[in-house]
Amino acid sequence: MAGEAASRVKKTLQQTGLQQEIIKKIAIIIYEAAMNVSIHGNHGMLRVYIDPESITVETEDEGVGIPDIELAMQEGYSTASREVREMGFGAGMGLFNIKQCSDELHIQSKVGVGTTLQAKVLMNKKDHTEDH
Ligand SMILES: Nc1ncnc2c1ncn2[C@@H]1O[C@H](COP(=O)(O)OP(=O)(O)OP(=O)(O)O)[C@@H](O)[C@H]1O
Ligand SMILES: [Mg+2]
Repeated sequence: MAGEAASRVKKTLQQTGLQQEIIKKIAIIIYEAAMNVSIHGNHGMLRVYIDPESITVETEDEGVGIPDIELAMQEGYSTASREVREMGFGAGMGLFNIKQCSDELHIQSKVGVGTTLQAKVLMNKKDHTEDH
């Protein structure tokens, strides 16, 4: 279902004529964030806010929480179970990929309570050469 959310938003954004590169980034963020909610977050919500200047992906979950966010963001760090790894997830790349694709990223978490994530992608970072 994480993939389904990503492709549904992708389809919607494609109708807006947004740059393909931006749509791709947003789809990656949604996929990784939704996967994290379903693997580590137990139960949660995904919201996508579309503004004239930016798109924000937000997740809110009631999972185990992240004790050390900085560590969790590092490439290759994962607490995924063997069962999850056997399904092909748990490379520890999700948060790193989200960071790479975002212009702004905020994560708040409380162990045993849950995690919220907000990733923003700006749309109008115009390449100045396009103006001529
Ligand atoms: N929503 C969340 N709730 C609790 N812990 C989380 C959440 N998202 C990430 N984490 C923690 O941060 C770690 C790193 O997350 P990340 O998405 O980078 O890797 P992963 O989910 O383990 O593997 P991959 O995303 O590559 O399949 C996770 O293993 C987990 O410990
Ligand atoms: Mg992940």
